[in-house]
Amino acid sequence: MKFFIDTANLDQIRQAQELGILDGVTTNPSLMAKEGITGDDAVQAHYIAICEIVDGDVSAEVISTDYEGMIKEGEALAALHANIVVKVPAIVDGIRAIRWFTDNGIRTNCTLIFSPGQALLAAKAGASYVSPFVGRLDDISSDGLQLIEKIRAIYDNYDFGTEILAASVRHSMHVIECAEIGADIMTGPLSAILGLMKHPLTDSGLQQFLADHAKAKG
Ligand code: E4P
Repeated sequence: MKFFIDTANLDQIRQAQELGILDGVTTNPSLMAKEGITGDDAVQAHYIAICEIVDGDVSAEVISTDYEGMIKEGEALAALHANIVVKVPAIVDGIRAIRWFTDNGIRTNCTLIFSPGQALLAAKAGASYVSPFVGRLDDISSDGLQLIEKIRAIYDNYDFGTEILAASVRHSMHVIECAEIGADIMTGPLSAILGLMKHPLTDSGLQQFLADHAKAKG
């Protein structure tokens, strides 16, 4: 399973990178706004800064919602760095744009996926990744993990090359469950990754080892 971090915060990206387990970064317009990044030049410079930290794919989302606008924006984003993947919303013009990007050698991440049908169309258009939003489905009493299961089954039935990027992962159990189902990638906050390491028996066991070692040493 690949681990992506879902943030535009450079410190958190650096921290995850230093752990030695980071495979990529996902961003979205809300995450960019949270960091106070506005205006084309600042946005482009920020994507380049992220690409210089992590050795892996960095999803950069288009703001346009019409076909021509998405193509223009996506081409400019893809030209920033070889690791940029153009993030496109799962709408009709987005599927057309993904087909165009695929035919022109630009990799894409189809985002805001909430149904198996959307994931099926994105794969047919040649998306490199689909991002089903696990947490946002759970938020409305739906089953985010069941969506991952359904997409996994569909992609396996037809050998689609599109990778399932479980997004809107909120906590460590989401990560474990997505790994059990066979999502190719997870993206979430640093806390969901670090939470995987937490166990009280590890902490108490380590304290005991250190105490016994100190006692033996006198
Ligand atoms: C995915 O690429 C999205 O940016 C993200 O995972 C959304 O997460 P949220 O539902 O926690 O905002």
